[in-house]
Amino acid sequence: MTDQSPKLLLDIALEAARASAGVIRDAAPRVRAIAWREKKAKDFVSEVDLAAEAAVLEVIRRRAPDAALLAEETATTIAPERQERGVVFVVDPLDGTTNFLHGYPEYAASVGVLRDGVPVAGVVIDVPLGEEFTACAGGGATRDGVMIRVSPIDDPARALVGTGFPFTRAEDIAPYLEQLARVMRGAAGVRRAGAAALDLAAVACGRFEGFWEPRLSPWDIAAGLLLVREAGGAATNYEGQPCPVAKTSIVAGNAAIHRWLLETVNGAQSAPRP
Ligand code: IPD
Ligand code: CA
Ligand code: CA
Repeated sequence: MTDQSPKLLLDIALEAARASAGVIRDAAPRVRAIAWREKKAKDFVSEVDLAAEAAVLEVIRRRAPDAALLAEETATTIAPERQERGVVFVVDPLDGTTNFLHGYPEYAASVGVLRDGVPVAGVVIDVPLGEEFTACAGGGATRDGVMIRVSPIDDPARALVGTGFPFTRAEDIAPYLEQLARVMRGAAGVRRAGAAALDLAAVACGRFEGFWEPRLSPWDIAAGLLLVREAGGAATNYEGQPCPVAKTSIVAGNAAIHRWLLETVNGAQSAPRP
């Protein structure tokens, strides 16, 4: 593609994420009849994840045929040199599969775009609420077309903080619980909603002051990272370095709560890291 402007890439990501959201929305009323299986312990894939991903890929192949893909269900690896060059779409067709399969209304479609390794566009669609979050490098972040900013609340004792549990590796549970205890002692409240892309969108629009989760995958964070940064927040790994779009642990928030979360999580004896 000759035009690789963030604006055009955002437009393609938006069409792709809407295609995914449409598949998920249509399937939701018959959720009990949907076939699903375990990819690995406690990590599920359903026919809806696969159909939603096919819908996303159809849009990307039609509108950006030269772009590379990193997609949770059918294109899970990419050569590091390819990820650093040209345009790469990073796709989570259905973030929050476990919620979706139980009819718990917290799940999303997420499409992020990298240009020469740098996130330049991102879309997260909250399917049950119908909210569309977008971010474009240098152009800010929006919810349903209206600019959003991270929360101004900088006192941890007033902060609502999102998190994600390490649910697949038993050895991560004890160190994680130590982090959770430390955050619970300082924050006003902690929530585990079950869709990382929506957790990051919640930080971007100020519903959460912060968020942390160990060992996320690139498709969980590609769009959400940019949402947080373009909304004026910070999203880093546990070392405080800008998060790569890779398998990584993540700490996000407005500037003050991000700083506090980094100190608090790292103060635990052992922080699980990828
Ligand atoms: C999961 C969700 C969840 C997070 C997991 C992810 P999936 O994504 O984002 O909140 O805790 O780490 O794998 O599997 O539902 O796309
Ligand atoms: Ca996910
Ligand atoms: Ca998924």
